[in-house]
Amino acid sequence: MKDVTAVVLAAGLGTRMKSQLPKVLHRIAGRPLIEFPVRAALELDVAAVVVVTSGHPEIEASLTKAFGSKVVTAVQDPPRGTGDAARVGLERVSTERTLILCGDTPLVTAKELELLLGESRDAELSLLSAIPLEPAGYGRVLRAPDGRVLEIREQRDLKTDAERAVREVNSGIYAAKTSVLVEAVKHLEPMNAQGELYLTDIVASTAGRGRVVALVGSADALVGVNDRAQLRDAEELLYERIRGRLGREGVMVRGDARIDDTVVVAPGAEIEAGVRLRGATRIGADSRIDVGSVLTDVTLGAGVNVKPYSVMTSSTVGDRAEIGPFSHLRPDSEIEAEAHLGNFVETKKTRVRRGAKANHLAYLGDADIGEKANIGAGTIVCNYDGFQKHRTTVGAEAFIGSDSQLVAPVTIGKGAFVASGTTVTEDVPDEALALSRAPQVNKPGRGAALRARLAEAARQAKQKKG
Ligand code: UD1
Ligand code: CA
Repeated sequence: MKDVTAVVLAAGLGTRMKSQLPKVLHRIAGRPLIEFPVRAALELDVAAVVVVTSGHPEIEASLTKAFGSKVVTAVQDPPRGTGDAARVGLERVSTERTLILCGDTPLVTAKELELLLGESRDAELSLLSAIPLEPAGYGRVLRAPDGRVLEIREQRDLKTDAERAVREVNSGIYAAKTSVLVEAVKHLEPMNAQGELYLTDIVASTAGRGRVVALVGSADALVGVNDRAQLRDAEELLYERIRGRLGREGVMVRGDARIDDTVVVAPGAEIEAGVRLRGATRIGADSRIDVGSVLTDVTLGAGVNVKPYSVMTSSTVGDRAEIGPFSHLRPDSEIEAEAHLGNFVETKKTRVRRGAKANHLAYLGDADIGEKANIGAGTIVCNYDGFQKHRTTVGAEAFIGSDSQLVAPVTIGKGAFVASGTTVTEDVPDEALALSRAPQVNKPGRGAALRARLAEAARQAKQKKG
C-alpha cells in the first residue's frame, strides 16, 4: 500500500486514566498501547507512519526504540481535539491516500484496515464502525432512512431519544484521499460540548458533497481505551486472541495462561493454566510449562520441563532440562541441557552445566557448576561477604554432600567429594574428599540415662508448682 500514509492520533491528555504516564504508553499484554495500531499499519506495508504526539519525550523514545526510522512523529501542542490532531498529522503526509487511526484503539487488525482502505477507493470518505452491546461513550453513526451515513455525533452531544438509541458507533478510524481530509479539517469549528475540534465533524461536511461509507467491523476491534477498566478489557481480549493464535500454530495453551504479545512459542509446547510468559521470552518446541510458573525474558530450549510454580527472570535453559517445582532462577542463570533443578533451588548469575543436578533446597549464586556435578540438599553458596560478591566453581562430576556451605571465592575440583555438613573455605583438589565437621562420638547407654535425668527434673518442677 505504497500510496497510503497512516496517521496515528496519540496526543490526547488521557485524563481519564488518572495517571502521570501518557495514556498511549500504558501497556497491555507487554506492549505500550501505541505500538498496536502502528504495527497494524506497518503490516499493510504503508509508505509511512506518522504519530501525532504531545511531544512527551517518553513517547518519542518508546516509538524510536520499537520502530526506529519506520515511524515519524508530529507534535500537537496544545491538544485541541482529534480534528486538530489530524490536521497536524496531515501536514506530514505526501501520499495520495491517508489512513487515520487512534493511538488508544489497540485491537484493530491489519485485515480490518485493509478492508477499510478497499472501501475508500470509491467513496469520498470511509470509516470503520461497529455495533457493540454497550455503545455508551462512543460517537454514534447517524444514518438517513435509506442507510446513507449523515454524521457522527458524540455521546454528550446527542439530542433525541432516537439518537441515543443508535447502537452503531464510530471506531475513530478513517480512510480517504489525502486532499479530501486536508480540505475537511481546514473547516472544522469548535461547536460542541467540549469546545474542541472534532475530527468526527468531517463526516457531516463530506456527506454533503459525496458518499461516506461506514464499514461495520467487529466490536472487539473498536475497543477504545480511555480508562483503566477499558485497559483491562482490551488486555483480556488481546490475551484471548493470543491464546487462539498460538493454538492454531500448534501450541497447547490451557485455561487463563497469559502470554504477552512479545513472546515466541514454538509448536508442540504446552502452557498450563495460570502461567505468565512475559517480555522477550522464547519457548522451544515440545517444552512444557506447568501451572503457575512466571517467566520473564527467558529463553527455553526444546523439550524443557518446567514444573509448577517456578519463577525465572532473564535466564536461559537448555534442551530437556527439568526445573521445579518451586525453582527460582534469578537474572543471568544459564542452565544447560539436561540439568535438573528441583524444589526451592535458587540460582543467580550461575551456570549449571550439562546434566548437573541440584534437586532440593539450595542457593547457588555467582557459581559455575560443572557437568554432571551433584549438589546435595541444603547446599548454600555463601557468595556475599557483606561488601562484595565472590564466585564459586564446582568441577565436573563433583559431589557436594547435603547441608554444606561453599564459602566463596572457592574452587572444588573435578570428581571431588565434599562430605555432608562441611563448610568449605579452601579450594578442594580434583578427586579429593573435603570434610570439615567434628568427628562423631557414640556413648553407649547414655541415651537412657539422659532420658531418666530429664524425666526426674520435670517431675520435681511439677511438684513445686502444685
Ligand atoms: C473518539 C471519537 C469517537 C469515537 C472514539 C472511538 C472524536 C471527537 N470522537 O472519542 O467518535 O467513538 O474516539 O474510540 O474524535 N487525540 C489527540 N489530540 C487531541 C485529542 C485526542 O491526538 O487533541 C488522540 C488521543 O490521544 C486518542 C485519540 O485521539 O488516541 C482519540 O481521542 P479521545 O479523546 O480518546 O477520543 P474519544 O473520546 O475516545
Ligand atoms: Ca478514546
